[in-house]
Amino acid sequence: MANVVVIGGQWGDEGKGKVVDILCPAFTDIVRFNGGNNAGHTVRFGDRHFALHIVPSGILQPGCRCLVGPGVVVDPVGLGEEIRSLEEQGISVRPRLVLSSRCHLVLPGHRALDLAREGSRPGGKLGTTGKGVGPTYESRAARTGVRLGTVRQPRRFRDAVLAASQDLERLLGAFPGATVPTSAEIDRWLEAALALAPMVGDVATALHPSSEPSRSILFEGAQGTLLDLDHGSYPFVTSSGCLAGFAAPACGLPARTIGGVLGVFKAYTTRVGSGPFPTELEDAMGEHLRRRGNEFGTTTGRPRRTGWFDAVAAAAAMRWNGIEAIALTKLDVLDEVAEIRLAVRYKLGSEELRELPDDSDDLAHVEPVYETLPGWQAQTSGVTSFSRLPERARSYVERLEELLGAPAVMISTGPRREETILRPVPPLRDWLPDDLLR
Ligand code: IMP
Repeated sequence: MANVVVIGGQWGDEGKGKVVDILCPAFTDIVRFNGGNNAGHTVRFGDRHFALHIVPSGILQPGCRCLVGPGVVVDPVGLGEEIRSLEEQGISVRPRLVLSSRCHLVLPGHRALDLAREGSRPGGKLGTTGKGVGPTYESRAARTGVRLGTVRQPRRFRDAVLAASQDLERLLGAFPGATVPTSAEIDRWLEAALALAPMVGDVATALHPSSEPSRSILFEGAQGTLLDLDHGSYPFVTSSGCLAGFAAPACGLPARTIGGVLGVFKAYTTRVGSGPFPTELEDAMGEHLRRRGNEFGTTTGRPRRTGWFDAVAAAAAMRWNGIEAIALTKLDVLDEVAEIRLAVRYKLGSEELRELPDDSDDLAHVEPVYETLPGWQAQTSGVTSFSRLPERARSYVERLEELLGAPAVMISTGPRREETILRPVPPLRDWLPDDLLR
């Protein structure tokens, strides 16, 4: 069995949680490798509903082990609450969760700095999730951060946290009116961090093939390709690498560990936070997609911006990640739309562009060139086989496959686990055992 990376091909919120949840019975280990609790993965099955932020979505399927790699930043208070909430819902978490000792910790000061920066950015807000993720990665790069492994030496840990908090307080001093964390807040945070100690381990060693050759790994990406720190719409990006290529090295594994890349794309596009969005719809159709698709952030509750599928941006995501197969989500959200548009090229002034510009200012000024397809105006919600989709819905999927150059092996027709079409074609056939494909 190949080790597979599941990656978001747009600006996040593509529905990766549900896709990982469906695939994970075929894997022994589910691994998060980037981001922090800025991520929000929603999984529904039966009448149950789970929102995950740090814990890999694999935790909802009994049997597999879940790991959080060194590239993830961990907020102990948030993670503690997430674990508690899952355990209250009857999910076994602690015995199955390994947290890398190398993970950097999100301190209360990082959150305060995130909010203070957002409030005083000269060019306007980035629209961060306010979880302190960016400032934590800054401390990591500045080599002033605190790593999770230190909790194994409580006294040294406490000293390191107090010193780092003072450092952050100095930085906060540059923002008049910024809220400085209180000592009670830092004490509560310390307690939450120390409680994570039994789950701390060495993710690279745990995943190395020599430890158990029959293990198979599913890497669960967070955020999305267009939020990648380098390749996304900088500066309107997150502060970690979001591409599939990061997955193995970020966990201390060789690049050749990866055997397949599945890209998750929504049947239209959404974005939260600021930044260019060429196919954005700020009209009744945009509102329809937001309402019908329940496009409100899992982490922050913010309404998501909505727009048509952007095949120019998606094609870039295909190349950068080496995506071999597509999971297309929320097809049913388009059920009532009379005419569906798809951006196939851009215009920038008199110039025609087939590639995503590398400059956000250019991206903000492009005009999409659309192709229009007739809508199917019939119900696809809950359909579980490709042949049962209305012909026009099949044509839409096939046009996307053609534009992106890869098969749609999974199509989601509703929020629940059961509302999914799995197509038994390569490479999915090579990644999943037959019983899962049926
Ligand atoms: P940060 O990651 O909180 O610093 O936010 C930076 C940008 O990434 C903002 O536009 C956020 O809305 C966006 N972002 C971060 N995480 C996610 C996610 O999981 N889904 C969608 N957008 C995200």
